[in-house]
Amino acid sequence: MILPLTGSINKLGHLEVGGCDVIDLAKKYGTPLYVLDEKDIRERCGRYRSLFKSKYPNSEVIFASKALCATGVLKIISEEGLGVDVSSGGELFTALKASFNTGKIYFHGNNKTRSEIEEGLAASVGRFVVDNLSEIDIIDELSVKKGKKTKALIRVNPGVEAHTHEAVKTGQTDSKFGIPKESVLDAIKKITGTRNIKFVGLHAHIGSQIFDSGGFLTEIDVLTELAGNIRDKLGIDVEEINIGGGLGIKYVEGDDPASLEDIAEAITKRVKEKVAEFRLKVPKLVLEPGRSIVGTAGVTLYTVGYVKEIPGIRKYLIVDGGMSDNPRPMLYGSIYEFAAADSMNAERTEKVTIAGRFCESGDVLAKDVLMPKVSAGSVIAVLCTGAYNYSMSSNYNRVTRPAMVLVSEGRSRVIVKRESYEDITRNDNV
Ligand code: LLP
Repeated sequence: MILPLTGSINKLGHLEVGGCDVIDLAKKYGTPLYVLDEKDIRERCGRYRSLFKSKYPNSEVIFASKALCATGVLKIISEEGLGVDVSSGGELFTALKASFNTGKIYFHGNNKTRSEIEEGLAASVGRFVVDNLSEIDIIDELSVKKGKKTKALIRVNPGVEAHTHEAVKTGQTDSKFGIPKESVLDAIKKITGTRNIKFVGLHAHIGSQIFDSGGFLTEIDVLTELAGNIRDKLGIDVEEINIGGGLGIKYVEGDDPASLEDIAEAITKRVKEKVAEFRLKVPKLVLEPGRSIVGTAGVTLYTVGYVKEIPGIRKYLIVDGGMSDNPRPMLYGSIYEFAAADSMNAERTEKVTIAGRFCESGDVLAKDVLMPKVSAGSVIAVLCTGAYNYSMSSNYNRVTRPAMVLVSEGRSRVIVKRESYEDITRNDNV
């Protein structure tokens, strides 16, 4: 099983994370519950940073906050010395609440509103990542108005297909993201003609849950060649190359992502080769991982409400959450590992379908998986739910969103409170 770093099975045969028995956590905080292993996140941040620093000293790792945006989480990431990528005013607001060093905030988004741009300028974010030509006019107008000098990267559509799920590919030519590589020189000319924006570099992101380095290497080829062209045609050195995020994680047996060590080696080697080939001034290399920082640290706990057996057809375990706290199985057909949290060593003898509580037949978390015998009241754990679960959760059926607890060394702390009915009706007007 793919447990968080501090995950283990204790003497009672229960799942334990961060020194906390998850059955105790379920009793104390209720279910559904997001449990987050603090040590796992800190270790991954440290490993990313030190690996890239050792192979390419002028590098920076920034966390893609869309993967898991909660103030307590961003606080940890900031303490670990990473930067942060935000793609909306709400993510920016959260990063500011977490007291992120604003110079380390990268502001993304393919439709930043004027007010979001103003919020970014007021916060003096380190970089704006420009997604289209018209945005340049607005950022400049508002920068001039606020008397701010703004540093910008251009998001390039590199025309690179990543080998991953259709819905999470972003670098192919036909994409709503980024400026086609053929138009990048025009975009830079436009920026150099502005009063308050300075062009500092290129950004691209080819997709998510990618298992090998092939796509990243092609992306590096495209960006460095472009950097050579920019220097030759415009006399401007590209100071930063940000290759986005996307490194995949292992959700289930059979997933085989390249190790961070191998990816880091392949990426930094290729950047160095290309810098030499195109005789570039050594640029800063920036990476933006999300999933591979927080994915494995998360475990979701559910309680089985009912066991429903349709003789000769199927046995359903119906849990107290589902598509609103984890829409990924429905959206992408994502597969997870499930465990009976109070009998981790028991043999898996029953074929079951784990269904959620929402009013849609498609609200199924896992179909026909083997589980030990569980009954109503049992706690089920779903592994590797740290990335894109809480951040894509909803209030469908007016179900309140779960709490999130951070666990470490036998202590648990609520970092996101369970929503109340009051919370979900707060903005209703009669
Ligand atoms: N940078 C940019 C510009 C991005 O758009 C993303 C993710 C990342 C970095 C981080 O990618 P990661 O390292 O997490 O793969 N909701 C989908 C994933 C969407 C990813 C969107 N962009 C899912 O649940 O699989």
